[in-house]
Amino acid sequence: MKKVVSLMAAFLIVAGTTAMAAEKHSHDSHDSHAAPAASKAQPKASKDKTPNPVKDEMVALNEAFKNLLDAILLNEPEKVELPFHNVHRYKEKTMAAAKKGEIKLPKNNDKFAEFEKLDEKFHHDLEGILAAADKKDMKALTAKTHKLFDACVECHSKFRNK
Ligand code: HEC
Repeated sequence: MKKVVSLMAAFLIVAGTTAMAAEKHSHDSHDSHAAPAASKAQPKASKDKTPNPVKDEMVALNEAFKNLLDAILLNEPEKVELPFHNVHRYKEKTMAAAKKGEIKLPKNNDKFAEFEKLDEKFHHDLEGILAAADKKDMKALTAKTHKLFDACVECHSKFRNK
């Protein structure tokens, strides 16, 4: 787990730099292997007029989650982790915005503390997924991914969907 965390920290720096470069030169794409996920999430995020860190994080998360499903189906656990670096980068921004009270949830905004709790638990469970992928434990990876999906639905039904 320590290895995963420090790997992630190293990656956050690389992904952050890459994304900043991508923002400035969106046609310039000779960057690192973090580029595919970053460049897909980035344009959508920067086009929005009102900053919405939760949405930006979700776009990245959605991509990482779909990649996770493919990685399980194709038995390629080594491909799980990379797009999640992007998610973690956005999570940092979401947390900073939350501290400043800048987040407005589509539904139940007055229950923000509950949202934060769900989010924390979600990211904790995500660590478990990355650890299972790291160990190439497909059985655990699959079970944890089912659980994670339930958490997507739970949070959306409370804080997003009408
Ligand atoms: C802790 C709460 C929470 C969890 C967990 C969560 N989401 Fe979300 N998600 C939201 C909220 C809130 C929005 C609405 C953001 C907005 O429109 O302001 C959202 C929006 C989205 C969107 C729409 C983005 C857009 O462009 O409008 C997608 C796609 C998405 N989530 C995917 C996922 C997936 C996939 C998972 C699980 C792997 C997940 N979410 C887990 C809270 C959550």
